[in-house]
Amino acid sequence: MNAARIPLVAGNWKMHHGGASAIELAAELTRRAARIDGVEIVLAPPFTALAAVAMTCAEMAEMEHTTPLRVAAQNVHAEDKGAFTGEISPPMLLEAGCTWVIVGHSERRQLFGETDAMVAQKAKAALAHRLHPIVCIGETLAEREAGRALEVVLGQLAAVTDVLVAGKGAVVVAYEPVWAIGTGKTATPADAQEIHGAIRKALAERDPVLAGKTRILYGGSVKPDNTAELLGQPDIDGALVGGASLDAASFEAILRAARQLLDRPARTE
Ligand code: 13P
Repeated sequence: MNAARIPLVAGNWKMHHGGASAIELAAELTRRAARIDGVEIVLAPPFTALAAVAMTCAEMAEMEHTTPLRVAAQNVHAEDKGAFTGEISPPMLLEAGCTWVIVGHSERRQLFGETDAMVAQKAKAALAHRLHPIVCIGETLAEREAGRALEVVLGQLAAVTDVLVAGKGAVVVAYEPVWAIGTGKTATPADAQEIHGAIRKALAERDPVLAGKTRILYGGSVKPDNTAELLGQPDIDGALVGGASLDAASFEAILRAARQLLDRPARTE
C-alpha cells in the first residue's frame, strides 16, 4: 500500500446471499466496520439484493454515525436499455444504489464468454454513468505455467486502458490470478507485487496521473491471515475478496489487517 491511495477492500459475494441473508450480512458488516476508518469498503451482492443492501447500508450508517459501505454490482450490460432479456443496465444500477460495478471477472470471461472488447465496453458504459468500474484481469494456471502471466495480464489491461484514460472517474483494477480463485492458493506477495508493479508501469506509460491514483487490488483466496503480507506490497492497494467476504468475522479481520498497515511508518522508497 501507499499513503497516496486510500486502501479499498471489496467483497464479491458471487451467487450467495440474494435476499434476507444479504440484508443481515450488510447490517452486521456496517456495525463491525463502523470503527475501522481509512479503508474504503465495497460490497458486491447479487442483483436481487442490490437495492435492499444499498438501503440497509445507508440506514445503518446513519444509526452508527459512520460512512455507508458502498455497493457494487457484479456485472453490467453496456447499453442503457432495450431488448436484452436478463440484462441490467448502468442507469438501473444507479437507481438500485450502486456506485461501483465489477467488470470482466474471470468467471464472466471463462463461463459466460466475455471478451476483452465486451469488458472494455462495459467499463466505458459504467464510467459514462459515473459508476466506478473494478476491472478484473488475471491469467490462468496454464498461462502462468507457460511463462505468459505478464503478457496475458498486460494484454487484458491494454484492451481497456483507452477507456480508463478517457473516463476520468475513479477506477480500480483487480489482479485476480484465475488459479488462485477459490482454491486456497494465493500468489506469493512477491509474485503479486511483480504483476501489480507491471500494471502500474503500463498505466503510467499512458497517463502518469491515472497510474498514481488507480487502486490495484489483489484477489484470489485472500484471507485474514494473508492480507497483511499481500497488502504490505507497495503496489497492492487493497483486496477483492470472495469466500472470506461471506462471513462477517473474517471480512472484518481482513479490514482490520488492511487498516493496521496504515499505521506503519512511511517507507522511504
Ligand atoms: P476467493 O476469495 O473465494 O478466492 O474469490 C476471489 C474472487 O474471485 C473475488 O472476485
